Amino acid sequence: MGVPKALTIAGSDSGGGAGIQADLKTFSAFRVFGMSVITAVTAQNSLGVQAVFNLPPEFVGRQIESVLSDFGADVVKIGMLSTAPIIAEVAERLRAYAREEAGRDPLRVVLDPVMIAKSGDQLLQPEARAALIKELLPQALVVTPNLHEAEALADMPVATEADMEEAARRILALGPRNVLVKGGHLRDAATDILWNGRDFTRFTAARLASTSTHGTGCTFASAIAACLARGHALKDAISEAKAYVTAAIREGFQAGRGVGALRHFVASW
Ligand SMILES: Nc1ncnc2c1ncn2[C@@H]1O[C@H](COP(=O)(O)OP(=O)(O)OP(=O)(O)O)[C@@H](O)[C@H]1O
Ligand SMILES: [Mg+2]
Repeated sequence: MGVPKALTIAGSDSGGGAGIQADLKTFSAFRVFGMSVITAVTAQNSLGVQAVFNLPPEFVGRQIESVLSDFGADVVKIGMLSTAPIIAEVAERLRAYAREEAGRDPLRVVLDPVMIAKSGDQLLQPEARAALIKELLPQALVVTPNLHEAEALADMPVATEADMEEAARRILALGPRNVLVKGGHLRDAATDILWNGRDFTRFTAARLASTSTHGTGCTFASAIAACLARGHALKDAISEAKAYVTAAIREGFQAGRGVGALRHFVASW
């Protein structure tokens, strides 16, 4: 087989730990060719986000057109989209590609619905949230909300594994083919729950007491995308991605003066 290809559509983290940079490192760690469409540029380091510059939606669209018209992609991973017009542009470009490529396998989309950070910080305005739900959720092969995002998407409090299951059922009704609710913020184990409309699958790891968790969400979704690009079925892709992100947290290190970084090339250095 040739080299699998994955495209990330997300924001740039100048600090290198999350966003586009985490996605490309993760793709590379799985020996997948990574391509990127940048939606926003952040001035960011391990101490926080100092500034955000959203790209014009048309320019986001131009990048998608350039990449897909030449390389195509085995998988598309979507992260931070910032504004409703950017979300509308991305959704329309993906729909247009699907129409043009009718007859071929549809693009497989891993949608990390970045709305609320693990800190609880709101990352998307209400109208952008609505656009994400209406335009992108129905195009996703799998959507990966954290507990806060599951609450917002399912419109219910989510604190226990039973809540995660109920939220996953409600989110599936919004159109994605699979829902993976991440339990990185549960008190005990780090258990993520997958719902495919037929059965629930749990992916569990011990909860690590670490501050090297910047970019875990981006890294996990990108690892799932990379494993799908390599031909794994979804459940296998999630198992492998879970092992990878757990190891990258465990081997995390202090890169700046604030929160620690994940070790993306955990198998080699
Ligand atoms: N302290 C931890 N120990 C072990 N696993 C963790 C820990 N924190 C997160 N994870 C795992 O990392 C993956 C990413 O989940 P998380 O809930 O952190 O996403 P997120 O909130 O979207 O992250 P981000 O704030 O980076 O967007 C999940 O598999 C989760 O279970
Ligand atoms: Mg996240």
